[in-house]
Amino acid sequence: MAKPLISSSTTALAGSVRVPGDKSISHRALMLGALAVGESLVTGLLEGDDVLRTAACMRALGAEVERLPNGAWRLFGRGVGGLMEPANILDMGNSGTGARLLMGLVASHPFTCFFTGDGSLRSRPMRRVSDPLGRMGARFVSRDGGRLPLGVIGTDRPTPIVYETPVASAQVKSAILLAGLNTPGETTVIEREATRDHTELMLRNFGATVRVEAAEGGGRAITVVGFPELTGRSVVVPADPSSAAFPAVAALLVEGSEIRLTGVGINPLRTGLYQTLLEMGAAIAFENKREENSEWVADLVVRASRLKGVDVPASRAPSMIDEYPILAIAAAFAEGATHMRGLGELRVKESDRLAAMARGLAACGVAVEETQDTLIIHGTGRPPAGGATIATHFDHRIAMSFLVMGMASARPVTVDDAEAIDTSFPGFEALMNGLGGKIGAADL
Ligand code: S3P
Repeated sequence: MAKPLISSSTTALAGSVRVPGDKSISHRALMLGALAVGESLVTGLLEGDDVLRTAACMRALGAEVERLPNGAWRLFGRGVGGLMEPANILDMGNSGTGARLLMGLVASHPFTCFFTGDGSLRSRPMRRVSDPLGRMGARFVSRDGGRLPLGVIGTDRPTPIVYETPVASAQVKSAILLAGLNTPGETTVIEREATRDHTELMLRNFGATVRVEAAEGGGRAITVVGFPELTGRSVVVPADPSSAAFPAVAALLVEGSEIRLTGVGINPLRTGLYQTLLEMGAAIAFENKREENSEWVADLVVRASRLKGVDVPASRAPSMIDEYPILAIAAAFAEGATHMRGLGELRVKESDRLAAMARGLAACGVAVEETQDTLIIHGTGRPPAGGATIATHFDHRIAMSFLVMGMASARPVTVDDAEAIDTSFPGFEALMNGLGGKIGAADL
């Protein structure tokens, strides 16, 4: 059932909070824990629907996965190559990351495995992973356009490949590297633009050999050596910088606010939004920088700021790909135009985010220009009108972005369905209201 929410303007936000664990790192921790020999202990795991589905899948593939009473997750893995054929279809829900990474993992195992997901996931492109995995020897049957539901017929004789990704995508890169684990020799992915490197960092932590070298012609070549001995590890999952973006932007927009967001991941391949906000004039301080499990984290202190429009280069897109919706909200309150380029991938996320943002902002009285892969937002330096009901298309980030907008716009903003927020940010409403937000159930 749809869950409409309304967000109204509020006074200064204050407080110190920790947003839920990083979604990308949580998926990977469960997958590598399920492959490693011995016990892995994961703390700070994101317990959102996307990640819980990956946990269920790792169980279905033969690993022991258990949530302890103290909230940590304990896994006993099966060893590289040791996954078992699941007895049923793997339902990935809304999760593109879960689906694509797992397709890679099972592609080099000699069994057949079926994947499905919700309406959004079933419409998303999968050839970007089935094409390279096919070159490694796996076979696929799918719906028209390579879409889910889809069956992977894994190979018992995987071949290592050197593959240049045609789109900047950490999911594609990770799917190939994960398939490369149970493949003899060396599997290499070349990416022209660097994407988040959580898979590479965590693989090394679990004991795999991963080389990262400059690629001929630009970019980087990432190589995994097959048949590593992965051993169980402790993983501490940082707070998700993509989730922290919502309270951070809310604090920037609501006059007089000052909030602290603790333990946020600041992997440089994830922080494009924060770099952009600083360029817009945001007061954000990064305190207590420290390294945990090869990932950098910091406490973010965010103070309300007057923002100005900026040009966001296309080259920054991979490091802030999930943050354009909330950046678009910040830009709507800024003075002057913000140009965002190289956004083609936004059209194939949980929804067509470019269209959803352009339509929603226009309905809230913001001047917006949209092309196939750019968005220009004309801010006036004054709060936009708001007052609209936004179609979220079961997209968590669209829902959270417009709820943040309602916290500072002239009139309240309603989202038609906030149910999807649980995929990545369980407790969003309570956390925002704890800081001083006014978000509650709406009658539609
Ligand atoms: C992710 C990679 C990105 C991102 C997604 C998580 C990952 O997708 O949008 O939310 O964990 O690897 P693409 O690889 O498709 O850009």
